[in-house]
Amino acid sequence: MSEGLFITFEGIDGCGKSTQIRRLCSYLEERGISPVMVREPGGTVVGEKIREILLDKKNDGMGPVCELLLFEAARAQITEEVIRPSLEEGRVVICDRFFDSTFAYQGHARGLGDSKVSGLNLVATSGLSPDVTFVLDIDPYEALERRGIRGEAEDRMEALGVSFQDKVREGYLMLCERFPDRVVRIDASGSREDIASEIAAKVGKMLDGRIC
Ligand SMILES: Nc1ncnc2c1ncn2[C@@H]1O[C@H](COP(=O)(O)OP(=O)(O)OP(=O)(O)O)[C@@H](O)[C@H]1O
Ligand SMILES: [Mg+2]
Repeated sequence: MSEGLFITFEGIDGCGKSTQIRRLCSYLEERGISPVMVREPGGTVVGEKIREILLDKKNDGMGPVCELLLFEAARAQITEEVIRPSLEEGRVVICDRFFDSTFAYQGHARGLGDSKVSGLNLVATSGLSPDVTFVLDIDPYEALERRGIRGEAEDRMEALGVSFQDKVREGYLMLCERFPDRVVRIDASGSREDIASEIAAKVGKMLDGRIC
C-alpha cells in the first residue's frame, strides 16, 4: 500500500487558505486523486462543537490556556478519527490549519510559549506531523481588506485586530525559518492563479516522488 500525503495550510485570517485548498483539490482531481479535506478546529462531530465554543463571540471571557486546551482537544479527535486512518489508507489529506496554528496564535501571539504548546501538540497528534505545510504570508491589512470584500461577520478569533494578526504572522515566519524542510512560505499577495501554480508544482513533485 502507498503511503498517504499530509498537506496543511496555514496563515492569518483571510490570507487565502480556503481559496487555495479548493484549487489544490481541483489540481489533485485532475490527476485522478480524490483528497480528504478537513478543517481545524472541527472536522468531526465533537470537533465542530468545540469549534462553535472557540469562535463564539459571547465567549470573550475565555482564558488563553482554556483556548489552547480546546484547540488541542479538537485536534486529538480529528487526528485519530480522520487524519491518521486516511493516511494509513494511502490518501492525500489536506487540512485547513493544524498544529502550526497553535504555535503562531497561542504560543507566539498569545504568549503562552513554545514549550507548553509543543508538549500539548505532541499529546494531541501522538507525533503525527504534516509532510508539507504552506504558510500563505500576507500583510494583515491586505488580508483585512480581502475579508471586508467577502463581507462576512467576524468571529471571536478574527475580531482580535491587526496588531494581533501581525504577531501571528511573525510566529508563522519563525516556523518557516525553524522548519525549512517542511514549512514553505508562499507570498500570498500575488494572484490566485500564481499562488495555486506554486503550490501545485510543489505537491506535484512530492506525488511524483512517492513510493507507490
Ligand atoms: N490571491 C488573492 N487575491 C485576491 N483576493 C483573494 C486571493 N485569495 C483569496 N482572495 C479572497 O480573499 C478572501 C479571503 O480568502 P479565503 O477565504 O480563501 O481566506 P482564508 O485564509 O480561508 O480565510 P479564513 O481564515 O477566514 O478562513 C476571499 O474573498 C477570497 O476570494
Ligand atoms: Mg478559510
